[in-house]
Amino acid sequence: MGNIDISKAKKIAEEVKAAPNKKQVCGEAAAEYVKSGMVVGLGTGSTVYYTIKKLGEKKRNGMEITGIPTSIQTETIAGQEGIMLAELRDCDKIDITIDGADEVDPHLNLIKGLGGALLREKIVAMNSKKMIVVIDDSKLVTILGEKTPVPVEVVKYAWKATAERLRMLGCEPKPRMSGSGDVMFISDNGNFILDCKFPKIEDPYTLAQQIKAIPGVVEHGLFVNLASVIMVGSEKRVRVIERETAH
Ligand code: 5RP
Repeated sequence: MGNIDISKAKKIAEEVKAAPNKKQVCGEAAAEYVKSGMVVGLGTGSTVYYTIKKLGEKKRNGMEITGIPTSIQTETIAGQEGIMLAELRDCDKIDITIDGADEVDPHLNLIKGLGGALLREKIVAMNSKKMIVVIDDSKLVTILGEKTPVPVEVVKYAWKATAERLRMLGCEPKPRMSGSGDVMFISDNGNFILDCKFPKIEDPYTLAQQIKAIPGVVEHGLFVNLASVIMVGSEKRVRVIERETAH
């Protein structure tokens, strides 16, 4: 596995202390989908954090799972919980992946990647039999792009030319900066991220293909037709929305 960065895991633990309870109830509820013996894709962020903590508790009570982390941050948190971890290349299949999202539309399409882990998150989701998405109700939108930009991971070498190509698709690409704000953020894969604010995205299927076709783009945060189940935490309850035909 990659290098362990404890500071990132500490940062997320601090963030979740301030998180509303909606994330916790939803994240914890999703752990109920996981059964002993499963290979589980572990997403990244402050909602799935609670899923990972719950899985750690279940592990201490005897449940055996293998986790495939989608970021160094998640690898650290899951490792601290004592969850056995593996690399994707060492697994034949992933039974289920649980991950957060930044926006979810009525067709269960997503924008992901504000946490910077979109590349591994997409690879893991695409190689899973089922993807469960855990969000609080602020993430539900009628049309993608309403609130958040689409994060696009790009190779460093070509980032300015790639940004220009992305701009031609109708967005305003903004280089993601690191926490201190003076250098560009670098993903776990050594790439830059451009946050691309589009006006409302009427056709995410086409836009996903157009972004992917640009040389220099490694991956983007439009997750189309990947989520099987959305779990939405609100003040009162966790609502479960299922795709009619799972992928
Ligand atoms: C990371 C992601 C996260 O899943 C997304 O940003 C949601 O995070 P949170 O649950 O902290 O709101 O895509 O790349």
